[in-house]
Amino acid sequence: MSVEVRHCPPDRFVELLKTAEVAFSEDVSDEHIERVRKVSDPERFVCAVDGDRFVGTGGVFSVRLSVPGGEIPAGGVTWVTVLPSHRRRGILRGMMRLMVDDCHTRNEPLAMLWASQGSIYQRFGYGLGTCDLSLEAETAAARFARDWPSEGSCRLLRAGEGLDLVGPVYEAARAQRSGFLSRTPDWWIGQLPLVDKDAKGGEARRLVVYETDKGPEAYAVYKTKMEWGAQGGNGTVIVEEAIGSTERGTREIWRYLFSIDLMRTLKAGRLPVDHPLLLLAAEPRRLGMRLGDGLWLRILDVPAALEGRTYGIDGHAGGRVALELRDEYCPWNAGRWLVEVTEGRAHVTPAKGEPDLALDANDLGSLFLGGFTATALSRAGRVVELRAGGLAAADRLFHTALAPWCPQEF
Ligand SMILES: CC(C)(COP(=O)(O)OP(=O)(O)OC[C@H]1O[C@@H](n2cnc3c(N)ncnc32)[C@H](O)[C@@H]1OP(=O)(O)O)[C@@H](O)C(=O)NCCC(=O)NCCS
Repeated sequence: MSVEVRHCPPDRFVELLKTAEVAFSEDVSDEHIERVRKVSDPERFVCAVDGDRFVGTGGVFSVRLSVPGGEIPAGGVTWVTVLPSHRRRGILRGMMRLMVDDCHTRNEPLAMLWASQGSIYQRFGYGLGTCDLSLEAETAAARFARDWPSEGSCRLLRAGEGLDLVGPVYEAARAQRSGFLSRTPDWWIGQLPLVDKDAKGGEARRLVVYETDKGPEAYAVYKTKMEWGAQGGNGTVIVEEAIGSTERGTREIWRYLFSIDLMRTLKAGRLPVDHPLLLLAAEPRRLGMRLGDGLWLRILDVPAALEGRTYGIDGHAGGRVALELRDEYCPWNAGRWLVEVTEGRAHVTPAKGEPDLALDANDLGSLFLGGFTATALSRAGRVVELRAGGLAAADRLFHTALAPWCPQEF
């Protein structure tokens, strides 16, 4: 029987998500499905059906992504699976086409995703937009290089409390970095300790907020896993998210996380490559750092995406760069583009003259948030400089003072 790829009937949305359980080799609980349902537009989910049975799933979340100088609408591609019985016959290819075209029709200048394997998505023009740092630290050995007087205090909240405190911290941090997703209250439910979850001890998610007389400046969501060894407490702190809106807040929340009694190890993921912890630690090696891929970006509308951000480290740069873009998957993007920047704002038009750089859609995704410079991309044999000075011009425009950071998988 032939397989058909199409949009999922909204009344079969729960059944669709349950199909993903097999392909992901993970349980998808009813509670998880309910949380996903709340943040989803079921009309944006796609399926592959064999007869009456779902054999492939995919969907797009409607969010806004922070970019230098603001935010732009973006389609968050998610729940991509194909049943093992139906792999390698083009089902993902069909679903991706549907999802990418859906984002484009909705005027989302880019699509983005977290990849289980990056190689799957590069053929569709996704480029590595952010890097992801994870830690497995020995807390006592890594310790902080300098001490500083304590200001403010940390407060542990009960499940269901604190949305009014963490929301503004997240928004303030989001305004400082590109790569953050917008969050509605329903998105927050998935991030914070759950009211109804009967979780005890190490199973329980905890929320701690750092406050000063100026209000909340940081928070962390974490779990602790206790173990006793021959030398006593041998527990692990698992940090799910720790965000500071101020430098002081970031330092203090990590000081709290590093000094929980009876804990020997701290695990954290989804941190930016320039996280202050690397410089706070007296023994950075004991942070047990690992670098991985973060958010993958697919530019769908070159002028809308490039005009949606500001340029230059201060956001006020001027300059121009002409791009020769290859894009077979989204051919409307292909061709020459002139990016003219005045006072940090770009005007993007089809270019007539000779281009400065040649690149493909993946590379534009990597350049877009400033996660990689044009020079770094050229060293990897990706971007090619066609006119001397082209790389330097692009570096001056696209680079950002802080590395982009996406603290949330979706
Ligand atoms: C990854 C997955 C969705 C692929 O689905 P699929 O229907 O077999 O993929 P397709 O047949 O449409 O393949 C499309 C292209 O991707 C390639 N591809 C597919 N799976 C791949 C993989 N795991 N690694 C590298 N490339 C892969 C195919 O070779 C094909 O390339 P081509 O068109 O250039 O020949 C499926 O194997 C799966 O569900 N895996 C487990 C869950 C998962 O990892 N999901 C992704 C979450 S981010």
